[in-house]
Amino acid sequence: MRPESQERIFLDHGTYQEGESIAVKLLEEKIRVRTGVTCLRSSSDQGGSVTLNLGPAKVDLGPRSSCVGDILEELSTSSNRVDDLVDRVIEADGETAALGIQMLLRRLQSAGIFVREIYYHERLLFCVETNGFHRLDAREIPQDGDLVVPSKFCSIRRDLGKWIVESLECNVTLRDCDRSLVACLVDLDGPTSLAEFAGHLCKAGLDPDASMELAGLVCSLGLLVTRELDEEAPRVLWSAQDLAFHRATRVGYHTRGYGGTYRLADKVGSTSPIREQRVLAVDFGPVDLAAPMAPSRPLIEVMEARRSRREHDDTNPITKDQIGELLFRTVRIRNLFHGDKEDLLDRPEPSGGSTNSIDVYLAVRACKGIDPGMYLYDGQRHGLVEVAPAGPDLTQLISQVPLDPNSTALPQVLLVFACRFGRAMWKYESMAYALVLKDLGVLFQSFYLVGEDMNLAMCAQGGGNSVIFSGLTGCRDLDESSVGEMAIGSIKS
Ligand SMILES: Cc1cc2nc3c(=O)[nH]c(=O)nc-3n(C[C@H](O)[C@H](O)[C@H](O)COP(=O)(O)O)c2cc1C
Repeated sequence: MRPESQERIFLDHGTYQEGESIAVKLLEEKIRVRTGVTCLRSSSDQGGSVTLNLGPAKVDLGPRSSCVGDILEELSTSSNRVDDLVDRVIEADGETAALGIQMLLRRLQSAGIFVREIYYHERLLFCVETNGFHRLDAREIPQDGDLVVPSKFCSIRRDLGKWIVESLECNVTLRDCDRSLVACLVDLDGPTSLAEFAGHLCKAGLDPDASMELAGLVCSLGLLVTRELDEEAPRVLWSAQDLAFHRATRVGYHTRGYGGTYRLADKVGSTSPIREQRVLAVDFGPVDLAAPMAPSRPLIEVMEARRSRREHDDTNPITKDQIGELLFRTVRIRNLFHGDKEDLLDRPEPSGGSTNSIDVYLAVRACKGIDPGMYLYDGQRHGLVEVAPAGPDLTQLISQVPLDPNSTALPQVLLVFACRFGRAMWKYESMAYALVLKDLGVLFQSFYLVGEDMNLAMCAQGGGNSVIFSGLTGCRDLDESSVGEMAIGSIKS
């Protein structure tokens, strides 16, 4: 995972669009280089090459005059007005340099390199920081008569004594916010016109024209949106939680570390992939892959035949040997090996970084050869450890996922996929939980295909009850929790 090349391409293409941010006229705006970005210069009398070190990427700005180099360096420690910067370049490098510096500052602005400080006279109203190194489109400013509401993607919090307003929609964070502005946003208790909102800002000490400009700026940053927009596709599709999760787990929307950074190596380290060994309640015995229970079919045939099958034959339930072969062909441990910093597993199904953070529990209702109860598959010894006996909790867990939404029939066996978060989260940054869900998808398809090949009824489930799972297994849900389920049983012909 190397975001570097993406950042470079973005800057090379310089995708500034006029609509991206409104230029303020009555308020004052200063820019500075965001924290964490440093300016590197190669010396030369005429200036020299300037490079910006963004952390995940380096941006080569090529040869620049010494005045431009000085400006970029100074902007790392202090803010300045764009007009003043342009004047300085004209004075040092001549009129013809004006366009060049304007274009450069715009490009850097559109790449999120700068923090914008917005002032009313000397009063700082807020600093706008783009969360990633890409600016997202600014939102349109509503027309006269439009009613606006606070965006569902806007959140307000207080950190270290400062007010922070987050606009998930435009992917910007407003820091050091003036408390009167925050109060005006919080006070909005229903749809209001922009002029009315500006009226509130006036009460906070701004003159009417500056209030109107600030109201427009707040809209362009996605903090206030028209009521209609809030209810339209595609916005209406997203909950704030889903959008935050999506943005947090993809490259581009933020500047946090990403991928296998071993972020907690010094603090917690890896959870071992091998659990403490407990007595096996079920020992499946050896499986001969050269002689499967049902003759194995070519992949192409299995793939074409696969279906989600929602009827189980309770007069002839799935057997212990079938479950044994199914688990052996999907999630047995083929090998335990040592990675650079952790012990890793090799199982038939792939897993991000070979972490294999997901283990398989079985909630058994009806199976020939296995008593009803909750079990955990031990992929090293190819057997089941009993976790909980049959009882109301087990019945409740299975009852959450009827075989078909229109019937009360229950699966013979519910596979419950549970993640040991300590396998993935100490190592992966920003995308650990997304990776777990991707591993889950891989498990679903692996089980679907092997189950189809074995003539079993398989059906993935969209959700299951993790609270009942915790109660049954005694797992603390921050250590280990169920993340997916699959109903399996014998096929009703
Ligand atoms: C991630 C995932 C979740 C699913 N959730 C459910 C579910 O909750 N209930 C159900 O009856 N089927 C569920 N299914 C099965 C789909 O409905 C099924 O795959 C889809 O209708 C296509 O049919 P097919 O599998 O027979 O090709 C799920 C499938 C997947 C991949």
